[in-house]
Amino acid sequence: MASGLGPTPLLLAVWGTLGATGFLKVEMAGKTQVVFLNGDVTIYCKIPGSPLLDSSIMGVMWFRKIRGSEMEARLYEYYGGHQAAFRPGASVPLELLERGDASLRLPGIQLREAGEYRCEVVVTPQKAEGVVQVEVVASPAGKVTLDQAPTKENRYARVECKTSGFYPEPITITWEKWTQKAPQHLQISEGVFTGPPVKNEDGTFNVTSYLTLKSPVEADGAIYQCVVGHVSLHTSQRFSLPAIETESAMDNDFWIYVFSIAVAVVFIGLIFFLWKRSCRKTNASSSDIS
Ligand SMILES: *[C@@H]1O[C@H](CO)[C@@H](O)[C@H](O)[C@H]1NC(C)=O
Repeated sequence: MASGLGPTPLLLAVWGTLGATGFLKVEMAGKTQVVFLNGDVTIYCKIPGSPLLDSSIMGVMWFRKIRGSEMEARLYEYYGGHQAAFRPGASVPLELLERGDASLRLPGIQLREAGEYRCEVVVTPQKAEGVVQVEVVASPAGKVTLDQAPTKENRYARVECKTSGFYPEPITITWEKWTQKAPQHLQISEGVFTGPPVKNEDGTFNVTSYLTLKSPVEADGAIYQCVVGHVSLHTSQRFSLPAIETESAMDNDFWIYVFSIAVAVVFIGLIFFLWKRSCRKTNASSSDIS
């Protein structure tokens, strides 16, 4: 009966639903995307195999779920030729959007920005959305120093391995030793003390581990490494202490010094002696002539 009047409201509603869930799809970087703290990151959201699109009939919205609630914060939106960034610096390059890439650029991402991100893409009349968990991590910086050098009175040496600026909190720090005699890394378990994590203002952590060397023999030409394992690192990272300058090494240096001076003195003396002798010879020959 209404066939001559075009699509009924019901049909329009069905069409709308189809449009919302139908042919348009977006792909994210998987379930989770791991990014580095302070990095200029790109949160992926792409229409796979997209032809060249007209950005004037497109819209993009990006949201992040607010931690501990079901609410979302709007980060960025583009539609009707206008864009707005609610998170400073957030952007979706339009030339990429026209190629079906609605990925969000976030300069200098912070730890508190981790969480569930949602991108909503409209290519009129279709709509698609994708969700991804963004994890923000930070790799530890490491530094090994001699905290307490061996002296005459105290022959114990204490080596310090300071890791800093990492996130999340779990980290493993072990110690290994390498000598020319045994060319493998030997794990050290004695004399190791690892302090509690301390939190920095930016939410990252520091942990310091100490290795006390029980005998001066141990300090002899060995290379000490602290081995750091963290979720942000593909393989554990090693930080080395250069060979410890022990007393015996210093004694060696002293004798090399004394020997060098002795050699120099003998050499100068020899030159002086030869010079004196040639002078005497010259004197003698000149007196012969006169
Ligand atoms: C963590 O380590 C960094 C680098 O060594 C240092 O600048 C910072 O003060 C440390 N933070 C704390 C809380 O000790």
